[in-house]
Amino acid sequence: MNVDGKKYRTIWLAADGASVEIIDQTKFPYAFEIAKLHTMEDAAHAIRVMQVRGAPLIGATAAYGVALAMRADPSDASLDAACSALLQTRPTAVNLYWALDRARKTLIQVAPEGRADAAFVLANDICDEDIAINMAIGMHGMDIITAIARTKREGEPVNILTHCNAGWLATVDWGTATAPVYMAHDSGIQVHVWVDETRPRNQGAFLTAWELGHHGVPHTVIADNAGGHLMQHGEVDMVITGTDRTTATGDVCNKIGTYLKALAARDCDLPFYVALPSPTIDFSLSDGIREIPIEERSGTEVSRMTGRTDSGAIETINIVADGSPVGNPAFDVTPARLVTGLITERGVLGANRQSLAEAFPERVRVS
Ligand code: MRU
Repeated sequence: MNVDGKKYRTIWLAADGASVEIIDQTKFPYAFEIAKLHTMEDAAHAIRVMQVRGAPLIGATAAYGVALAMRADPSDASLDAACSALLQTRPTAVNLYWALDRARKTLIQVAPEGRADAAFVLANDICDEDIAINMAIGMHGMDIITAIARTKREGEPVNILTHCNAGWLATVDWGTATAPVYMAHDSGIQVHVWVDETRPRNQGAFLTAWELGHHGVPHTVIADNAGGHLMQHGEVDMVITGTDRTTATGDVCNKIGTYLKALAARDCDLPFYVALPSPTIDFSLSDGIREIPIEERSGTEVSRMTGRTDSGAIETINIVADGSPVGNPAFDVTPARLVTGLITERGVLGANRQSLAEAFPERVRVS
């Protein structure tokens, strides 16, 4: 993504090699700030407080976290401790487990004196692979957008609704749900994105809107509850979301509220696509609703809102009646039957066990 004329990834090794740099997503949309991670604890903190978030970027940050730990102490005990500390940071996105499992299995075979270098190479590989995967997702998803564009009248955009931020900021570059949008836009197809604000943390209003704006993609931020109405009135052509964990059977876990969009899309006979890199598939699970751990976050995310006043001050205010209890499940599961297709790096797949297993035979667990 280009910001102020400079091309950025969302995470990278600092030029002097002394730290890992990230874009601090807690500052959006009011500031574009870079933060430095010097230690494994810094990386764990960044994931926990959501300076970095989004399933693929959580995995990439964890891989760099292991590398920072190996630089401090490359012993087996340190490797185990780093993996276990990083695994505790957030429960739902399986990319975290995937990256740590890969790091541990790779590094345990390397002699301690070579571990730090090997760990940084691995983290960089995971980032490069994420970009290549997202570009492939973009190409496959763009074919769907192109087909819809052919059905539109001259001058009418393809209206795409998305939820949360499965964009550049959720990955190392391009995004998953946004990659097809960026590629379609860049190749001259008219697109317009309905951006769900995505309460309680406003990833849509704060992050997706920011990045679409920077890329020049026409978009409109809407209240989370507006999508069904827009679908009923022909204002939406398709839905594309991301996912934090998809089961072997195609059940899709994503930011809270995704399921309601899928229900509305089905009622309105509209396609509901989910864009995902293969590290987001958890081939060990079959029943998303029962088996995927759903992160329960602080109620203050619901009871408070932070924003910028007209005078430019950032303020946090309470928006719930005093004394009322607040709940905050952060993700929900959309059953495979509501998913039109899974846009992966290996093509658009049916949301079912057979399609996923055929596309990714090397990932299917041998039990
Ligand atoms: O809580 P977050 O902001 O980490 O949730 C992110 C999402 O739900 C994204 O849609 C998902 O990680 C897919 S990112 C390509």
